[in-house]
Amino acid sequence: MRFFLDTADTEEIAQGLDWGMVDGVTTNPSLIAKQGLPYLGTVKKIAELVGEDRPVSGEVLATDYTTMMEEARRLAGLAPNVVVKVPLGPVGLKAVRTLRQEGTLCNVTLCFSPTQALLAAKAGAAYISPFVGRVDDISSDGMLLIEQIVEIYGNYDFETEILVASVRHPGHVAESAMMGADVATIPLKTLRQLYKHPLTDLGLERFLADWAKTGKSFDD
Ligand code: G3P
Repeated sequence: MRFFLDTADTEEIAQGLDWGMVDGVTTNPSLIAKQGLPYLGTVKKIAELVGEDRPVSGEVLATDYTTMMEEARRLAGLAPNVVVKVPLGPVGLKAVRTLRQEGTLCNVTLCFSPTQALLAAKAGAAYISPFVGRVDDISSDGMLLIEQIVEIYGNYDFETEILVASVRHPGHVAESAMMGADVATIPLKTLRQLYKHPLTDLGLERFLADWAKTGKSFDD
C-alpha cells in the first residue's frame, strides 16, 4: 500500500520524505489556499521536491470543459510526475477521457458513491479519490464506500487505483489496508499517529530505565 501526503506544505512534505514513508502528494485548492502562495508555482515546487518517481496531484479550478482542458494541460506540463486532479461530473469525466488519450494521468476527486467510482474508472481515471472522512461527517459510513469500490473494481478489468482520501485517523488507514485499497492520502498529523502506541513509549522507557540502573554504558 502506498502513502501519499495530503498537503501543500513543503515543510510537511520534507518531514514525510525524511521518514521515508511518502510515495506521493495530493493537493487541492483549499490546501494550496492555506499556504498563501501562487497556485501553479506551488504544484511545480512540490513536484520537484518529491522527485520524478512520486506522483503529485494538482487540481483544475475551471468547471467548463474548454478551460478545464487548458488548465489540465498546463498542470501536466509543469513536471512529468504531475497527475491532474479533476472533479467528478460529466464535464470532469469527459476531460479525463480526453486527457487519457493524450497520455495524461488523472485523479478523479470528490467521489462519494460507488457509481461515481464506476464512472471514473470507465472514463479512464488513473486514481479515484473517495472522501471517507466527509462521508463519516454526514453520519454515513466512509469505509463502506471503500469496500464497495474494491468489490466493483475487482469484478472488472479496470486499471483505476483506489486512493482513499479525507483520511482523519489511523483507523481509516488500517481498514483501507485490510480492504486492499491501493493508496491512502494522509495528513502529516495522521501519518505521525500511525507510528504511535502508548505501550511502545512505555516499553522503551522501561528498557532504557532498566539499563540505566546498571550504571554501565553501551560499550561495557
Ligand atoms: O485532498 C482531498 C481530501 O483528502 C480532503 O480531506 O479532510 O478536507 O475532507 P478533508
